[in-house]
Amino acid sequence: METIEKLRNTHNLTAQEYKSLLINENSDFLAVLNAQARDMTVSIFGKDVFIRGLIEVSNFCKNNCLYCGIRAANKEIERYRLSKSEILDCCRHGYELGFRTFVLQGGEDPVLTDDLMDDIISTIRSEFPDCAITLSLGERSAASYKRFKASGANRYLLRHETFNQEHYSKLHPAGMSRDKRLECLAGLKDAGYQTGTGIMVGSPYQTIDNIVEDLLYIQELKPEMIGIGPFIHHNGTPFANMPDGSLELTLRLISIFRLMSPAALIPATTALATLSPDGRTRGILAGANVVMPNLTPASRRGDYSLYEGKASTGAESAEGLAELKKELNAIGYDVIVHRGDYDKNYDRKCIM
Ligand code: 5AD
Repeated sequence: METIEKLRNTHNLTAQEYKSLLINENSDFLAVLNAQARDMTVSIFGKDVFIRGLIEVSNFCKNNCLYCGIRAANKEIERYRLSKSEILDCCRHGYELGFRTFVLQGGEDPVLTDDLMDDIISTIRSEFPDCAITLSLGERSAASYKRFKASGANRYLLRHETFNQEHYSKLHPAGMSRDKRLECLAGLKDAGYQTGTGIMVGSPYQTIDNIVEDLLYIQELKPEMIGIGPFIHHNGTPFANMPDGSLELTLRLISIFRLMSPAALIPATTALATLSPDGRTRGILAGANVVMPNLTPASRRGDYSLYEGKASTGAESAEGLAELKKELNAIGYDVIVHRGDYDKNYDRKCIM
């Protein structure tokens, strides 16, 4: 318990101390950790939960990450790419519903050139001046990150997945490297984005020591956003028979990251909600403060299948916002209309 206290006060621990938080099996320990993290979140954000409208712009991907259902080698899914006008329609629909952040996420699709993305981002920027634009388009050159920032993007999500090189190489094909991933993250920070990184919890071959390395890396990088979700197998991948990650360990990590980084934007991820019906609310109660409902046209959602059973209806969908609100109201939280930038002096503004 003193280690929780130390993290809460100093936001900084050693490897050994982080490890002790990960392996403590005392029955009240997780509850205490979650409650401390929740109190920290409430002290900064009140009980406001930010929503982001997730637009899955393309499921074409040139990569073959071993865990991911949209890997190039998976021939079982139908590939799609939204047009500029479809993406704008998603934004318009989302704006009406109360979204003030749009997240453009896609596989590493070579057709999404810098020119094309520049045009799409600039158009969204001019039509929605009061909204934040988040990109999640994988590894690109430092020059394209800079260009997209100049076109009007504000934030970028790029999980490092795992800091350990050997572990990274067990999850990714030859040709992808941990160093390249970290270099991209440095480029994003350098370009001035609110930068998000994170990991899958319980990815194949992951050890507790690997997670400690992730904690130390994130402690050092100080990203504005931290995405933590359980690994969930996908039948069309080499990891089809690997066990899914643990709900409890995911919640434990959300809480540790909150105490490490009090003002960070931490989502209760779709993977967490997919793993368990109460995953989303438990994520919020463990210190998360963001939810990312799906704004992708419903006809395409099934093809953006990163893992089996990926939730995209009900409270995970933009049209299910009323359901999400009800779910969060039931635990005393509110969904709000707000850009929800990284802001240490967050001031509650406008309730839905
Ligand atoms: N299980 C859980 N998360 C996954 N992602 C990709 N595949 C899976 C999976 N099988 C996550 C990765 C990626 C994010 C967009 O989705 O962490 O960064």
